Amino acid sequence: MNDIKVLFTEEQIQKRVKEIADELNELYKGEEIYAVCVLKGAVMFAVDLVKNLHIPLKLEFIRLSSYNGGTKSSGRVNAVDISLPDLNDKNVLIIEDIVDTGLTAKFLLDFIKTNFHTKSTKFCSLLDKKITRKTDIEPDYYGFDIDDKFVVGYGLDDDGYYRNLKFIGYKE
Ligand code: IMP
Ligand code: MG
Repeated sequence: MNDIKVLFTEEQIQKRVKEIADELNELYKGEEIYAVCVLKGAVMFAVDLVKNLHIPLKLEFIRLSSYNGGTKSSGRVNAVDISLPDLNDKNVLIIEDIVDTGLTAKFLLDFIKTNFHTKSTKFCSLLDKKITRKTDIEPDYYGFDIDDKFVVGYGLDDDGYYRNLKFIGYKE
């Protein structure tokens, strides 16, 4: 792990997660939500975020993938498991690790739009890599902007490794 340079420390991440949770607590005051965690990358963020949400919520998990082992998006989104409950008339909060090209986000938002008439749909991503965007998707909420670096840790992986790091970093 010594070859990974720290980009965001555990403290920075936890502080930012609480700030986002505060905004969401305000947004959803008096409402119930379905929080949808996009596996595998968003698992750490989703867990920490929902622990700081003080509204009635149900936590769902779906699994998508767009990387096929390498460090560049494959350009195709693979819906490994996208089984969801009935989201008609529900407030849906999608929780992602990172928006890179935006193809995953677009795929998921289109999927939800096609299949449900939600009460609201919001997209919350821990990281926003705007520079590599190939769609017009912008997350409604995000934690940190990053430039074109391949990052790992706090759920994000390189070929399956590093998800367990408490910080987010990159290889030099
Ligand atoms: P997109 O479809 O190109 O926006 O990519 C989204 C998915 O690619 C994310 O949910 C991540 O799982 C993965 N991804 C994108 N950038 C990185 C990175 O820098 N590190 C690790 N995974 C990444
Ligand atoms: Mg992801």
